[in-house]
Amino acid sequence: MTQPGKVFLIGAGPGDPELMTLRALRLLQTADTVVYDRLVSREILALAPPEARMIPVGKSPHNHPVPQERINDILAQEAGAGHIVARLKGGDPLIFGRGAEEAAHLAEHGIAVEHVPGITAAQGAASVAGVPLTHRGLATGVQYVTGHRAADQVLDLDWKRLANPDTTLVIYMGVASIGQIAVGLMTEGLPGSTPVLAVSRATTAEETRLLSSLGRIGTDSRDSGLAAPTLFIIGKVVSLYRGQVVPDEAITQVSARG
Ligand SMILES: C[S@@+](CC[C@H](N)C(=O)[O-])C[C@H]1O[C@@H](n2cnc3c(N)ncnc32)[C@H](O)[C@@H]1O
Repeated sequence: MTQPGKVFLIGAGPGDPELMTLRALRLLQTADTVVYDRLVSREILALAPPEARMIPVGKSPHNHPVPQERINDILAQEAGAGHIVARLKGGDPLIFGRGAEEAAHLAEHGIAVEHVPGITAAQGAASVAGVPLTHRGLATGVQYVTGHRAADQVLDLDWKRLANPDTTLVIYMGVASIGQIAVGLMTEGLPGSTPVLAVSRATTAEETRLLSSLGRIGTDSRDSGLAAPTLFIIGKVVSLYRGQVVPDEAITQVSARG
């Protein structure tokens, strides 16, 4: 009888292959099958063994070519056939990554799963830009928030709780909703001058950054046509970007990484 294989739920980090963990790299290099998301870069996929079976299951906000149930089944089938499966996800598999749902499905089928943490996009983007997500005197904490909303739906967030001037917010999946998010936060009292840094394709050669303010980010982000994936860092810590103190009327500035 075939011995069941195993699934490694691996965080591939924000994009730069050098930001993968050693463990992620070692396990990827021993995989029989690699099941990967859209956010995993070509450079990282190139690190898989040449003989590995490569299965793309990428999703984008309005385009789900492989439904989650099907992804769960693929993982169970591959491991059930005795294969070592690297389930590669961008960032960390458990931050807006549905990794826990996949792990639960595999556990129901008696398949062993091991979690391999990755650097989430917020940490990668902020750290490379020199923006501390927490900083004494500026932010006592950080909140990771989804900006994703179902088509034609209003984003239902707890604006009062989020509009805390002593906390940093990082908005994932927020390109389409950032204008609405900014209005929600300002309505609950966050000043329009609060600095915002949008980072697209963080830690890759195509990284770009847009420095703006809460009052202007909706318009700025539309006008600059930010490329996906993008996240938004909102809060006083952004005033430390490149060591500059952003004035109250924050400047709008788009720049390549550097
Ligand atoms: C479905 S979530 C997956 C998050 C991932 N599990 C993580 O821990 O980073 C996708 C969102 O993550 C953010 N993201 C992922 N990689 C990014 C990158 N390299 N640069 C900027 N944002 C990124 C974007 O907001 C994107 O819409």
